[in-house]
Amino acid sequence: MAAREEMPEENDMDMSVSVAPEKREAADEAKSDQIVRSPNASDLDEWLAKVDAMGELKRITAEVDPDLEAATITYLVGSQKSPALLFENIKGHPGHRALYNMIGCNLSRFCLMIGEEPMDHPLKAVQALQKKMGRTMKPKEVPAETAICNQNIVTGDKIDIRQFPAQRMWPLDGGLYLGTGDAVVTQCPETGRINVGTYRMMIKGPREIGVYTSPGKDATLDREKWWKLGKPMPIAAAYGIDPLLFLVAATSFPKTESEYEYYGGINGAPIEVFKSDITGLPLPAGAEIILEGFVYPDETFAEGPFGEFTGYYGRPSGATPYMRVEKVRFRNNPTLTCALMADGPANEAGLFWAALRSAAIWSDLQKLGVPGIQGVWSIPEAAGWGITVVSIKQMYPGHAPQVMALAAQCVGGAYFGKYVIVVDDDVDPSNVHQVLWAMATRSRPAQSIDILRETWSTFLDPSLNPPEIRPWGSKALINACMDYRHIKNFSKRTKLSKATYEQVVARWSELGFSGTPPVQTVFEDSAPGTKVD
Ligand SMILES: Cc1cc2nc3c(=O)[nH]c(=O)nc-3n(C[C@H](O)[C@H](O)[C@H](O)COP(=O)(O)O)c2cc1C
Repeated sequence: MAAREEMPEENDMDMSVSVAPEKREAADEAKSDQIVRSPNASDLDEWLAKVDAMGELKRITAEVDPDLEAATITYLVGSQKSPALLFENIKGHPGHRALYNMIGCNLSRFCLMIGEEPMDHPLKAVQALQKKMGRTMKPKEVPAETAICNQNIVTGDKIDIRQFPAQRMWPLDGGLYLGTGDAVVTQCPETGRINVGTYRMMIKGPREIGVYTSPGKDATLDREKWWKLGKPMPIAAAYGIDPLLFLVAATSFPKTESEYEYYGGINGAPIEVFKSDITGLPLPAGAEIILEGFVYPDETFAEGPFGEFTGYYGRPSGATPYMRVEKVRFRNNPTLTCALMADGPANEAGLFWAALRSAAIWSDLQKLGVPGIQGVWSIPEAAGWGITVVSIKQMYPGHAPQVMALAAQCVGGAYFGKYVIVVDDDVDPSNVHQVLWAMATRSRPAQSIDILRETWSTFLDPSLNPPEIRPWGSKALINACMDYRHIKNFSKRTKLSKATYEQVVARWSELGFSGTPPVQTVFEDSAPGTKVD
């Protein structure tokens, strides 16, 4: 058995949602001249103004330490409806700000990120995202002078990246991370394809910063190609970015395509980029901070560990390449975008990875022609990955087992997920209470659970031990549908009368209750269904 240090290095932050859209619509050229950002504003300014108008921006003006304190506050505040947190007074960094909990587990801000009005149901957001990811739009080049990050440019020995409020998020993190909510730009030297990826970046020194990229990730492949040519890899890292750029950067699109183009597709307008004078890379003109430089062959330093999206530390400290920083650009009073990785709802990647994974599995099931799919939801609190629920309208014997096997092993679902639960169409897959109720009342453990063994997992799964056995995992498939053989005579569930429900809703405040009454979709005297139109 391989010794620990001989294990493949793919054991940290190895997480991605693979998306391979079925049909690529033509770019919406009509909109390609649209300027989305006003002069002297960053993309993040625009975003924060909208979040503020929604009443979802919390400004923290009391002094907060970037070493553990800001992340601790974010973890404690993080709950389903929690606001975005803008730390405006960071110890040791006057004039700088740090933004946490950009999306968190908040559906309204997720909708804002993908350019939609707030929606009342997560599956509607999943369907909107699914549609928008099916199109692309090329970036639009703008003059460098219009890029707000060029307000301040520092080069050579004057550079000290420690001026920015890099964060330590968990007590055992290996150092201060400037890059978590970032967009790292690299290029394939063979094809010219521009990659944008979110990779963590730990500060090494005033002009050096780590770039941890797992094996197989696009930036790793680009780096290997540059090094094979005997050249350092040109690289840029943007912080203080539009959350949508963070979303596409943290998503695995086909290796031959650029995340910039998917940004344009989802945004409905192209991303504005300017060409760098030192690396030639197209840089996001709306970003607030950009570091640029080169990653040299065989130069590494001890980086990590880092608290991961699983709620555990990943790889112990290990040799990692780093960027030698040649140029730093930043706007006046910049904001660092920070992404806390954590257990539970404070995980910045929880909701958005859940939505991406749900969209990917839903598309795959559609492509396969499986009928009756009413909704797909990966539970954000299960690290966005661990548990996927599919609701179906059962149509034939074996339908539910077919759906759970396919959902577990299709392209969008194969990686890392541990549980697939299939429920009937009267159960909302995004409502954990309903899902648990269905499992408790409709599944028969002896008959309803199948196990898939030796499935595709990750070095980040702490349950697979000793670590040498990773990434071989397993999956449980749970059929929580009514037994199809007895579906006609299955015990009748209790349902509200629609007429009485509507009467109670109308009298809600008269009865002395505040707020809005809970939405109900299943009634005794109406057809059941959770289908989202
Ligand atoms: C906050 C955050 C930090 C991440 N850090 C890393 C990292 O350090 N290394 C890595 O390989 N992937 C990391 N990921 C996952 C990648 O962003 C994701 O796999 C993405 O698809 C990579 O882009 P690529 O497919 O273009 O390589 C991180 C994701 C998030 C949300």
